[in-house]
Amino acid sequence: MDKLRIQGGRALHGSVAIAGAKNAALPQLAATLLSPHPVELANLPDVSDVANMLTLLEQYGARIVRTDRDAIIDAGPARPAETGYDTVRRMRATVLVLGPLLARFGEARVSLPGGCAIGARPVDMHVSALSALGADVRVEGGFIHARAPKGLRGNRLVLPSPSVGATETAIMAATAAAGETEILNAAREPEVIDLAASLGAMGAVIEGAGTHRILINGPASWRPAAHRIMPDRIEAGTYAIAAAITGGQIELSGARLEHMASVVQALELAGARVWPGDRGLVVSGDGALRGTDVTTEPYPGFPTDLQAQFMALMTQADGASMIRETIFESRFMHVPELVRLGANIRLQGRTAVVRGGARLHGAQVMATDLRASVSLVLAGLIAEGETVLNRVYHLDRGYEQLDLKLRRCGAQIERAAQ
Ligand code: EPZ
Repeated sequence: MDKLRIQGGRALHGSVAIAGAKNAALPQLAATLLSPHPVELANLPDVSDVANMLTLLEQYGARIVRTDRDAIIDAGPARPAETGYDTVRRMRATVLVLGPLLARFGEARVSLPGGCAIGARPVDMHVSALSALGADVRVEGGFIHARAPKGLRGNRLVLPSPSVGATETAIMAATAAAGETEILNAAREPEVIDLAASLGAMGAVIEGAGTHRILINGPASWRPAAHRIMPDRIEAGTYAIAAAITGGQIELSGARLEHMASVVQALELAGARVWPGDRGLVVSGDGALRGTDVTTEPYPGFPTDLQAQFMALMTQADGASMIRETIFESRFMHVPELVRLGANIRLQGRTAVVRGGARLHGAQVMATDLRASVSLVLAGLIAEGETVLNRVYHLDRGYEQLDLKLRRCGAQIERAAQ
């Protein structure tokens, strides 16, 4: 297993090309199973989660042609199959194939995703959405068994909470259901809007994506389609924090301000400067940071996927900050590792109290979940001496060439085999 060696102390300056959004690509790849026609998805990020999803689609029989960051997925030959146990167990997002397989073939059997470092992450809302559309869904033996021999029928679905994945499962299944489906309390994330745009290009009829109320009229008459994946707002936010924490300046090429309002607001409150550049957003820090409280919330609130990264920033602020995690029950795996580097953080339930002004010293640290891992890289960029991050595969799941992009901005970071 590879590791990253980081020598802290360099202010980063340069431009980073923001890749396609992993969390937009994954549902859109699953959605290709709905249609017998080819779908071209452009701007796919070169990350292992996307590679895993492409492999899973091939295991279902889809034919895939890739050129650089584009893929043409022809799910015409696809069939539901007993497959992917290992892939699904390892990567939760593969549960997103359940809705499309059920909607197209009237049956699906998908492994329950394993829990992960950030919480149990059940799929009860996915299951109840499919049941409400007329499916018979049972969970047993570690698998989700779904059947709808007479097809799916449109219905009104009220999600108990605005789950991103459950919203996506409901939308995808509803595109093949007869009649109108109304989804209430839907997630409003930009990745949901991008999925709806992709499905629309494929022939689905969807209104209201991005609001709490989404209407779908099915069944869709599918056609060949092409769609470009939106830029990754979480990758962009991560490099924005890298600029702020090192007191440097980075242009986030391709980033969209309208996806990042809550992040930009928090960064400006903390003392960073953000302005539109020629090719995206420019973020600049001058080293003086103010303690800033954030609470993670469903979009458009502060994203849980940037909570760990912002916490690393707050270890350097002048003053204390309170960071509340309301989306996942245990998304503080990065805290003990940041403390090992010298951070002063105390946990009280779902709130972390960060006392700023900590001088961090390099150490061996362990990556756990994707975003916790990158918060340790950010801390390593300003820690005195060398920080060694083990189990870098966690980073490869969602960050494309992280060490290369940071090195190009002046970071002293190397990737080495274990
Ligand atoms: C998506 O996960 C993202 N993943 C996550 O990004 C992100 O953190 C999360 O949304 C929240 O924004 C992808 O899009 C592939 P949820 P998802 O359903 O859909 C509970 C990353 O780092 N829940 O909105 O799984 C769940 O346990 C990843 O890129 C149920 O209880 O998130 C969690 O506590 C991490 N029952 C909360 O809802 C369900 O049926 C939010 O989960 C579904 C979810």
